[in-house]
Amino acid sequence: MGVAIRGTGSALPEKILTNQDLEKMVDTTDEWIRQRTGMRERHIAEKETVPSLAASACERALENAGKKAEDVELIIVATCTTEMLLPCAACRVQKKLGADKAIAFDINAACGGFLFALNTAHHYIEAGACRNALVVGSEVLSEIIDWTDRSTCVLFGDGAGAVYVEETTKGERSCIIGMSQGSSGMNGQMLYCRGRAVKGETEPEIDSDDLLVHMSGSEVYRFAVRQVPVCIGRALDSAGIGTDDVDIFVLHQANSRIIESIAKTLKADIDRFPMNIERTGNTSSASIPILLDELNRAGRIQKGQTVVLSGFGAGMTYGACVVVW
Ligand code: COA
Repeated sequence: MGVAIRGTGSALPEKILTNQDLEKMVDTTDEWIRQRTGMRERHIAEKETVPSLAASACERALENAGKKAEDVELIIVATCTTEMLLPCAACRVQKKLGADKAIAFDINAACGGFLFALNTAHHYIEAGACRNALVVGSEVLSEIIDWTDRSTCVLFGDGAGAVYVEETTKGERSCIIGMSQGSSGMNGQMLYCRGRAVKGETEPEIDSDDLLVHMSGSEVYRFAVRQVPVCIGRALDSAGIGTDDVDIFVLHQANSRIIESIAKTLKADIDRFPMNIERTGNTSSASIPILLDELNRAGRIQKGQTVVLSGFGAGMTYGACVVVW
């Protein structure tokens, strides 16, 4: 039995923070940010939360697939920034959607999380444990960013993206045909955040530095440009196809230079690597499904085309998935 992506959805917070806004907050310039990252602006949550963004993205994915929330059997939310420890974000999404039947739980594999969640849903469906799933990446990273640190605060944005996946019908070609994922815990120091404060309740004795993201940007950069092409290669091998057979690469939107370097290593034309990083920044686990939704809605992915999804994140984690659309 195969598993196909039937619908996509996404949601971005209303507020937009531009590079010019950041120039007023830290010692940076629009030119530096654009040249080093490809970003111009990002969305920042004010009233939106991880579950509210996730639920909006899910509603749009269900609508896009022509399905109803009450028939959903599994909800997996990939997130590393949910506002509450308990209940998990997926159960709160279940409540918002009224998806009574679903099994719901979260996965934290940071920016690699969406691919880990998609892989998990794929195995649930293949094993016959359920017939369909909502897979979501949702993040409010702005809550754990140090807004005085120019080396990290310019990079991230908030948002959510979702896909509705379902078991295929007999003889159907559209399905996930290859996957690969991995983790490199020995590189955990490259990108970390020690704790999470409940909104508005930070105790004065807690060192606020512990509640913020710390990153060695150049180490993360080197890890990504080395590991992602290897991971994509493994996923393509598992699908029995090569780089030339891929129509579109939907990569984690962390840095346009990282994506260009990956394209070069794979000897694939950069035109096959669409980006929305200019408008969204790095939305962590949400970046791949947000871009996928934008491409799907713009008609830029055609039925029968081969799409590779791939990303990496804190952990370090990495993954790739090959889909026939
Ligand atoms: N504005 C202006 N200057 C900045 C800056 C900013 N926002 N941030 C850093 N700089 C400065 C540094 O202080 C450094 O100055 P120095 O040479 O005087 O010490 C200089 O720019 C170069 O810094 P460097 O870190 O070498 O730049 P870079 O070309 O590696 O780009 C990143 C930095 C963070 C954009 C890049 O390393 C990157 O994208 N890494 C991956 C991060 C990532 O993807 N994280 C998420 C993973 S899911």
